[in-house]
Amino acid sequence: MQLKIRDLNPGDLPSVTSIYAEAVKNGTASYEIVAPDLAEMTGRYQALHSKGYPYLAAVDETGALAGYAYASAFRTRPAYRWLVEDSIYIDPSARGRGVGKALLSELLSRCESLGFRQMVAVIGGASEASMAVHRSCGFELAGRLVGTGFKHGLWLDTVFMQKSLGPGNATTPDLAAFPGTLA
Ligand SMILES: CC(C)(COP(=O)(O)OP(=O)(O)OC[C@H]1O[C@@H](n2cnc3c(N)ncnc32)[C@H](O)[C@@H]1OP(=O)(O)O)[C@@H](O)C(=O)NCCC(=O)NCCS
Repeated sequence: MQLKIRDLNPGDLPSVTSIYAEAVKNGTASYEIVAPDLAEMTGRYQALHSKGYPYLAAVDETGALAGYAYASAFRTRPAYRWLVEDSIYIDPSARGRGVGKALLSELLSRCESLGFRQMVAVIGGASEASMAVHRSCGFELAGRLVGTGFKHGLWLDTVFMQKSLGPGNATTPDLAAFPGTLA
């Protein structure tokens, strides 16, 4: 597959809605039970985009959306503002072909350039595929919360993985730079 990673635009949102709906219905990455509709997904995209968080699309040679990834605040209290959480969703027909890794690599690079210092992955259902893509991009295990979700009739563990961005916590952040202006 010839892959292009670019900023997501509003025209991609129907495909985003459909990829996410499949993951909500059939998977454990998301702890939502009912898939959000296009209006809700548009609102979520706009909220992140307006604050400057990266929201990326992976498109194949036909222009179809193979997957998407974005960064968002892990928690909104201001001292957390140097930490972002990533989310990645790949169309089932495009999984296992390097799309997730390509998106996450670009997301890491964008977040580092913006001045963020840490990225956390919150891995619902301790998914092997999700842990593998994060490990492959240099994330390390940061903890496991046992029995923290209940979906599809099963208790789910939530795994945290973490990666430092740029100087991480080795230097003080530039308080004048984005993301210091967030929240
Ligand atoms: C998890 C997900 C994003 C991975 O994306 P992907 O495009 O399928 O993964 P890639 O092809 O880029 O693979 C990246 C690495 O993970 C490994 N991997 C991928 N799927 C795997 C699986 N099912 N089991 C074990 N390893 C797997 C690959 O071998 C590769 O390892 P390498 O770099 O050492 O060769 C994708 O499967 C997905 O969208 N799943 C449903 C939603 C989800 O779980 N999102 C994550 C939310 S935190």
